[in-house]
Amino acid sequence: MGTRDIAEPEGIRQARTLPAAWYSSPYHHERELLRVWSAQWVCIGDALDMPEPGSWRALTAGRAPVLLVRDRDGELRAFLNVCRHRASPLCEPGASASGAALTCPYHAWLYRLDGSLARAQGVGEPEGFDVADYSLKPVGLVTWRRWVFVHADATATAPDFGPLAVAIDAFDLEAMDIVLAESDERSFNWKVLVENYSENYHTPFVHPEIDNSNSHDYPMVGDGLVLYAWDRPLQPNDAAGRAMNELLPGEPGWEAVAMATTGQPYDRGSYLTVFPNLMLNVFPDAALAMWVEPLTVKRSVVHRRLYARKGADRAAVAANVAAHRLVHLQDVEICQRVQRSHDAGIDADGVLATVEERGVFWFHEQLRTLLAIP
Ligand code: FES
Ligand SMILES: [Fe+2]
Repeated sequence: MGTRDIAEPEGIRQARTLPAAWYSSPYHHERELLRVWSAQWVCIGDALDMPEPGSWRALTAGRAPVLLVRDRDGELRAFLNVCRHRASPLCEPGASASGAALTCPYHAWLYRLDGSLARAQGVGEPEGFDVADYSLKPVGLVTWRRWVFVHADATATAPDFGPLAVAIDAFDLEAMDIVLAESDERSFNWKVLVENYSENYHTPFVHPEIDNSNSHDYPMVGDGLVLYAWDRPLQPNDAAGRAMNELLPGEPGWEAVAMATTGQPYDRGSYLTVFPNLMLNVFPDAALAMWVEPLTVKRSVVHRRLYARKGADRAAVAANVAAHRLVHLQDVEICQRVQRSHDAGIDADGVLATVEERGVFWFHEQLRTLLAIP
């Protein structure tokens, strides 16, 4: 069987790039925070980043102030970081604390680690007031593989990432060690990075160090909340290579991709964009997770974790870390330059490459659907 054809997504030939205002207007940003970030499961970190038993940590997911609390029995919960009295945050974003209970810094209402209100000292006798009705408001929380997601709506159904999420089922990602953990504030709208991640068109020009020999192509399929791309070897020489060449994720035999052996960074990769904000590279011996957090319309924090298979060769791990750092900085540089054009309010009115930018098209389609913009 030869290399599979992947159907061209309908509408890509007519597609145009997004207007500058989508990357620079506070009004547009507010709309996105409401319709995208408050309406989706968004990645907030690796499971190992979560608080220890008896402690908590505050962060912002889109525009939702979130308090992650792990009780003493180890159960992790998420709440809105907003006191039920007069809305003081219980903990400053980015800060952590631990103890037997949470005390609001404003008027000292006291919450248990399960979010229930234990005491509202000095409140007197407001009519109809019952502490049982004043628990912290819950936020949806799930872990998929080793990444934690929250949803501003606690009643949201669990995420269904769609049929392509199985592409990395056979990889034992949970057993990998974190070998690099970095978070950096950058001068670009969050979408600029997701677009950059979701295409390989720029690779020969922005990352000349990556081996671009003609040994593989780079198909991309978007289905539901996952965009999947992979290094498809054109002349496979083992079971893993044959699976990547002949099959699509989920087809019988696909799991062989996890058995590939490779000696160099950025080889035999599976690349997933999980809408809206998680980007994953999965290799036989290593993985990378990157999730982006919008600070303002023009600034974002990029969190990265690089993983290595336990017992992986130290030199290979060091080579991976070095390759990743270089590639990431090259991407950041071009993304920050692109943002300058957006900041100047200049529309590129561009088209999308009909093969190489299918991932960008998929991403824009997700956004347009949620924003209800044709
Ligand atoms: S705002 Fe929290 S106790 Fe008043
Ligand atoms: Fe890149």
